[in-house]
Amino acid sequence: MLIRPRRLRLNQHIRDMAREVRLSSKSLILPLFLMEGKNVKLPVNSLEGHFYYSPDTVFEAVDDALKCGVNKFLLFGLPSEKDEIGSQSFNENGVIQKAVRAIKERYRDEVLVITDVCMCEYTSHGHCGILNHGYVDNDKTLEYLAKIALSHAAAGADMVAPSDMMDGRVAAIRQELDKHNFINTLIMSYAVKYSSSFYGPFRDAAKSAPSFGDRKSYQMDYHNKKEAVKEALTDINEGADILMVKPALAYLDVISEVSKHSSLPTAAYSVSGEYAMIKAAAKMNLIDEYPTMCETAVSIFRAGADILISYYAKEIAEAINRGDIG
Ligand code: PBG
Repeated sequence: MLIRPRRLRLNQHIRDMAREVRLSSKSLILPLFLMEGKNVKLPVNSLEGHFYYSPDTVFEAVDDALKCGVNKFLLFGLPSEKDEIGSQSFNENGVIQKAVRAIKERYRDEVLVITDVCMCEYTSHGHCGILNHGYVDNDKTLEYLAKIALSHAAAGADMVAPSDMMDGRVAAIRQELDKHNFINTLIMSYAVKYSSSFYGPFRDAAKSAPSFGDRKSYQMDYHNKKEAVKEALTDINEGADILMVKPALAYLDVISEVSKHSSLPTAAYSVSGEYAMIKAAAKMNLIDEYPTMCETAVSIFRAGADILISYYAKEIAEAINRGDIG
């Protein structure tokens, strides 16, 4: 026999050396949930191990993550009041704006602060935009998204991440940011976001489930992959800096396709339902949590992702530090 593939699997040194995919904690982003108020630290029931923080307590979460080598954060806000037009989302004293200022004041450039730009957590109806007879009005919503993004940039966000799936929002945000001289605020676009049942635990956590209907008229149909390329190319043309695919695990083919077609870094969002599935199965002793987490994280990079947003970001970083993966 001339060819023995098993030689490359002979021992740990050889396997370590021959790994095709390398991971770094520098590519990881941890989502954080911010709540209005003071002194808040409350468990997020649908996302075990995660907490709601207020702008004055969020340092605890940041410090914990820094200890593991994770210094990039994606912020989601829960406002104390909701209305038809999600006014709190662009209030300069809103929960996200306060939290961003607090984090950047304390950590400066030690951390990268990314904000989710969307309206569903802020609107009384739970849709990601402004309603017009029950339909989310695309072009009207763009004005609001631009305002939200600007308020985040003004608070000091390094990067904004629009997750609403309106057409033309990257261009609208880029123009608004540039008009106010935020030329170096990056846009990580949720370019390819499917209408997915994997968002369940997040919607519970963010209290953002739509009060009627669903998000199928703006989020993508999961039968489609060519459409993912179309969305990606559109956002590149509109000035996005990073493209995101979401969810991740059931969409590895899409991550692969997008990363092949795009000249931008590809981020993947391993969403709440993916995290919850592993947690729940592990709790029932059906799988081992740690190796399953490792395997799924690597699979997302192997598919072509350059950046991973995960509720396991700290644990993945620790696995990398230990040399178990990466
Ligand atoms: C807001 C938003 C959602 C997620 C991120 N941003 C929910 C949704 O679109 O309904 C989901 C994240 C997750 O499930 O972890 N539009």
